[in-house]
This record gives sequence, C-alpha cells and structure tokens, in this order.
Amino acid sequence: MKRVFSGVQPTGNIHIGNYLGALKQFVELQEDHECLYCIVDEHAITVPQDPKELRQHILDVAALYLAIGIDPKKSIVFVQSQVSGHAELGWVLCCNSYTGELSRMTQFKAKSGGQESVGTGLLTYPVLMAADILLYDTDIVPVGNDQKQHIELCRDIAIRVNHNYKETFVVPEGRFMKAGARIMALDDPTSKMSKSAINVHSRISLLDEDSKIKKSIMRATTDSDGEIRFDPENKPGVSNLLSIYSAFSGEDIETIAARFAGKGYGDLKKELVGVTQEALAPIKANFKEIRESDELKAILRDGAERAGAIAEKTMKRVRDTFGLGF
Ligand code: AMP
Ligand code: TRP
Repeated sequence: MKRVFSGVQPTGNIHIGNYLGALKQFVELQEDHECLYCIVDEHAITVPQDPKELRQHILDVAALYLAIGIDPKKSIVFVQSQVSGHAELGWVLCCNSYTGELSRMTQFKAKSGGQESVGTGLLTYPVLMAADILLYDTDIVPVGNDQKQHIELCRDIAIRVNHNYKETFVVPEGRFMKAGARIMALDDPTSKMSKSAINVHSRISLLDEDSKIKKSIMRATTDSDGEIRFDPENKPGVSNLLSIYSAFSGEDIETIAARFAGKGYGDLKKELVGVTQEALAPIKANFKEIRESDELKAILRDGAERAGAIAEKTMKRVRDTFGLGF
C-alpha cells in the first residue's frame, strides 16, 4: 500500500480552499492508502502565535480532520511537535539545502517582502515541510496548488541526499485536485483564498453559519458582462464560483456553466449558497461533538505513538547515512 502524508497549519479559519484543495482528498485517499495526517504546529510558529490560542487551534484542526471524515482507525492523526523526528530531520535537511533555493520560494518572497527583519524559520519553512514528508517514506502528498514549489524542493533534497550519500529517502509526488486546487478570494478573485485576509467575506470558513455563507457568496466579486462561462483569465470571479460549485458537487465545470447559460449571476450565486450550506452542514454538526469529546486527545496521543514508531526507523537510517552518533 502506498503511503500518504499531508499537514495543515493550526492557525484558525480553515476555509473551503483548504477543504476543496487538500482536506477532501485526505478522506478519499484513506480507503486504499496508508495515511498520516498531521497538524503542523511547528510550522505555525514561523510567525508569532499566541500560545493559548495555538493550543486551541491544534485541537480545532484535529476535530475538523475527524469531522470531515478522517477515520482514526484507518489513518494516523497526530500533532507534529509530538514526534521529535520532524525537528531532528529538519536540521539534517537544512544542512543539505541552499539559502539560494530557499530564498527563491514564492511563498517566502511573499511573506518576507517589505519586512525589516525576516525570521530564519520563514526561510527554512519548506525544509521542515520536506522533513515531515521524508520522515515517513511518503509516496503521495495531497496538497493545494500553492504547495507545488515546496513539493519540488522536497524532491530535490531527497534526490540530492540519495545521490551525494546513499539511497536514504523515498522521492514523493504531489497530488492536486482538478477543481479546487486553487480557490480564490471571494472579494478579490485574483488572489487566493487565505486564512489571514482581513475581510471575513473573502473566505468561507468550514464552521461559518448559513447566514454568513449566504452573505459572503451573494456579495462575491464578479464582472459586468453578465455571461456565465468558465474563463479564469478574463472572468476570474465567475470562474471561481464555478470551480467551487464543481468541487463541492462533483459535477464538471462545463456542465454547470451550460446549465446556467442565459441566466444571471444571481441565479448561480443562489444555487451555490445552497450547495455550500449543504456540504458544510454535516461537518459543523460533527465538529461540535468531536471537539468537546474526551476522546480527541487520546486519538492524538495514539497517533503520535504510531507515527513516532515509523519516524524512528527512518531516523536510524538517516543517522547511519550521515554518520551521526556511534
Ligand atoms: P495551510 O492552511 O497553509 O496549512 O494549508 C493547508 C492546505 O490547504 C494546503 O494543502 C494548501 O495547499 C491548501 N490550500 C490553502 N489555501 C488554498 C486555496 N486557496 N485553494 C486551494 N487549496 C488551498
Ligand atoms: N506548508 C503546508 C501549507 O502551508 C503545510 C505543510 C507542512 C505540509 N508540512 C507539510 C503539507 C507536509 C503537506 C506535507 O499548506
């Protein structure tokens, strides 16, 4: 069975971009893969976090994982900082990566641009991500499009170590959704939907109330030509709505666009409100119960133990490759 690894940062506001680009795949993959789903708290601290809030967000993401259908009997669900191999391998990989390749990463450039002083963790962030993946001999990494460059870097580092030392790492591959790999902001369809945007109507969070979902979609930015067709270049707003519709319903984009031919944007938006509310309702219902249950922490502890056993095997191999210890 092929092994799958992915992670989400516990930074609040998990939105439909995260869900349609990444989380939805997690559930599908657990049926016929050996899956590890991580809450990457060490990635979250690359920017300052409130410690109390961070701990709450870790449990929120864990509960969301389970609420969308990740089954802890099928998949390993755990928190990154509970398995020391991530940080340990992260260091080893830092010694096998170049500041040049790290400073060329689009996300680093975006996050560090205009800042007076830039945290080292922001630069080495993708190396820690590579460690997450390589620690488990991962074959497949389901993520959104924005992580493509980081996956490429991970592959480069794995190939480099295998070549310069000896065969140590499995070289992984990214897995991206057809519709949903890049959901754009509702208020500005030229930038991706993000957790941190100030305008709450730029995104739909998985736990948003029905009334908020309706408001955000009804006021989504479109254009003035009035025609419903999929054309991301010239009609990014309408195309984004069609992508979201398609990703939730499973119907392909062209079929949806054809059905709405001759109708107005208001009609498309109204239906999309219904589709989105319906898709999120069971997640919200499950979330409350799971988040409050005592079982959640036990599931995470068990997950960390199982992940730790796999990680330790890899770390033994890594220490041997580099001649660490005795
Ligand atoms: P993050 O919140 O940055 O930890 O992202 C968690 C997952 O969601 C990653 O696989 C991202 O690639 C994916 N993701 C984040 N934003 C979007 C978006 N706007 N559209 C599609 N996928 C996204
Ligand atoms: N960098 C990813 C993001 O921001 C989160 C992440 C960390 C991740 N480690 C990972 C994703 C390993 C996949 C595999 O979305």
